[in-house]
Parts: sequence; structure tokens; C-alpha cells
Amino acid sequence: MRRKLVAGNWKMHGSRRFVEQTLQSIRSETEGQDAVDMAICPTLVHLPLAEAALSGSQIALGAQNVHAATEGAFTGEVSAPMLKEFSVRYVIVGHSERRQLNGETDEQVAKKFAAVLAVKMIPILCVGESLQQREQGITHQVVLSQLDAVLDRSGIEVFSQAVIAYEPIWAIGTGITATPEQAQEVHGNIRRHLAERDGAAAENCQILYGGRVKAANAAELFGQPDIDGGLVGGASLKADEFASICESAS
Ligand code: 13P
Repeated sequence: MRRKLVAGNWKMHGSRRFVEQTLQSIRSETEGQDAVDMAICPTLVHLPLAEAALSGSQIALGAQNVHAATEGAFTGEVSAPMLKEFSVRYVIVGHSERRQLNGETDEQVAKKFAAVLAVKMIPILCVGESLQQREQGITHQVVLSQLDAVLDRSGIEVFSQAVIAYEPIWAIGTGITATPEQAQEVHGNIRRHLAERDGAAAENCQILYGGRVKAANAAELFGQPDIDGGLVGGASLKADEFASICESAS
């Protein structure tokens, strides 16, 4: 039986004070919650503070991005071994904001995914279609080709230790949420696609939904057979919202 995972993607939000106070509140509001995996992904500069604030708790630390190389002349970048030193467990790769705003390609995303696994952290691979692609009826092709770029490089077996997040771009920060049925359809396709290569990896892989997840819709989304939790943006910045989303997943 797959456990559910609720991961908060704080994007470029927060301050020292916010990080300390919010993580303290999240800790106390999720106290004793051991039926669900939980993680918070703050900005890079807040990782040391967050590491201290989450120390000894059940909430894991995540990062929002990584460079594929171990070290080198890459100004402004941070490598997987560097993140690992700060107790980072999960690393988001290929978020649509990075694909769109920073021009990240499928190939770069696949290299980042491999770099995260190489130091035994867990990649959260984001895939998802734009509104235009959905209207063209090519959601399936778009999502599976993003997935194939990673499968071709890293193989199927590693998906037992990896997380996929389906995040339709049209549902991120827009006020529109995919219906549970729309999300389940894509999640089911992703799992079948994995299962064609390896049944066990497909069964173990946690597939999260992201895009306007909040306390009010989480239970219905997480009730779908192939939705194993959420990658939560805006709602994860509020401790009580985040805690009740975790509650819905338990
Ligand atoms: P929102 O939950 O704010 O729509 O963001 C989703 C997201 O992009 C999480 O990675």
C-alpha cells in the first residue's frame, strides 16, 4: 500500500521570521500525524533555518531546484551533494515555472533527476500540459514525453524511489483546479505507462497532483485511486491549511 505524500512548494516566498514561525506552527499542527509523508520545500537561502526548525520532526525538507553537475563554474547554481548536506530529502525537478521561465528542457530535467538520485535523495519530477495543449487534445502525449525523457536516461527501476507530480499548468495559481476525474485520468495514464515497463515500480511510485490543492478540495482529489498526495503551492504557506491537507491524506 502506497503512503501518501503532501509536499509544500513555497516557491519564492518567505523571510527568516516567516520560515521559523510557519514551520513551528506546521510542526505543532501536524504533531502525531504519522500516516502521511510530509515535506516543505523553502527557498535555498532558507534551507539552513528550515533544517533547524524541522530537526527531529516528521516533516522532511525539500529543495525546489538543483544543478545537474556536482560542482564547477556554474555561477548561482547549487548541486545535489550540497543540498544533501542540509538534510534535504526531496528535490523538485522540472517544475513548469522553471521549464517556462528558465527554459529548462526535458534533457536538463532528466540530468537533474539523475543527479538527485545519485546522492540518494528523492526527485519529485513535475510534468504537465498547458491550456493550449489540453485544448488541442495532446495532454497524454505531452505528459508521457516529459516522462519518457527521464525514463530513457534513468530507467524504470528508480521510479520505486522517485515521485512524480502531475501539475497541469492551467491549474497552477490560477484559481482553476483540475476535477478529481480529470486528474485521475492523467494519473492513471502515467501509472499504466510505468507499468508497461515494470509493474512493481509503477505500483510503488507516488504520483502527486499539483495545482490549486487546498483544504477544501484535498480529500476528494486524494480519494482517487492513482492520486497519492499533493504538491501544494499557495495553500502550503498557511500552517492550518497545510495541516488540514495532510489530515485529508491520512
Ligand atoms: P498552487 O497550489 O499555488 O496552484 O501551486 C501549485 C504548484 O505549482 C506546486 O508546485
